Amino acid sequence: MRKGILFLAATLGVSVVGSPIQFSETSAVDNDMQTAIAASINGNAIVSGRLRSSDRFESGEYVQIDGVAKRGSDCSPKGLVGRDDDSVLLSCQFGVWQRAGGNINTVIRYNSTIDLDWSISTVSCAANETVTGGGGSCLRENGVAWFRRSFPHGNGWLADCYAWDDVMVTTEVWAICAY
Ligand SMILES: *[C@@H]1O[C@H](CO)[C@@H](O)[C@H](O)[C@H]1NC(C)=O
Ligand SMILES: *[C@@H]1O[C@H](CO)[C@@H](O)[C@H](O)[C@H]1NC(C)=O
Repeated sequence: MRKGILFLAATLGVSVVGSPIQFSETSAVDNDMQTAIAASINGNAIVSGRLRSSDRFESGEYVQIDGVAKRGSDCSPKGLVGRDDDSVLLSCQFGVWQRAGGNINTVIRYNSTIDLDWSISTVSCAANETVTGGGGSCLRENGVAWFRRSFPHGNGWLADCYAWDDVMVTTEVWAICAY
């Protein structure tokens, strides 16, 4: 009887009020329920099997992921999202559980420029890399060179060094590039 009432309410698009309602293969849901309905449940719904939507899955609040995966272990399929012991979000990338932001790899690019009294050196990251930091240094023989500037320049870094007594000054520059 309870089954019949629930089914009727659902087909009419009427909200089913009460909590919690448990849907499982052995209780309220049977084949009769597999029709197009608009159901609204004002309470907790507990599904013992997989929950699938052919459209967007929306939450008006947070999404809690209880699935703990081990970073670096195998997974399938692509797109699966879980978390590790410390609740860092993981996603299944290339068949391996990895941090959701992707692993950041870096490479250091270098340039050095020598000039009389004032030298500017620039270095760029490759087109498929993004500059994340950088720096420079000044070299000269027998004396002091001023380290004038060091700043992001395009997708790379610029540094420049200055001396005032007619000497050759070398500016070295490094860019930390992420890919
Ligand atoms: C090194 O810096 C100089 C001066 O800015 C620049 O002309 C040259 O193209 C740079 N070389 C490399 C490999 O980035
Ligand atoms: C970046 O581009 C270079 C040159 O096109 C290529 O050799 C390299 O594999 C690329 N790196 C990544 C991480 O895509």
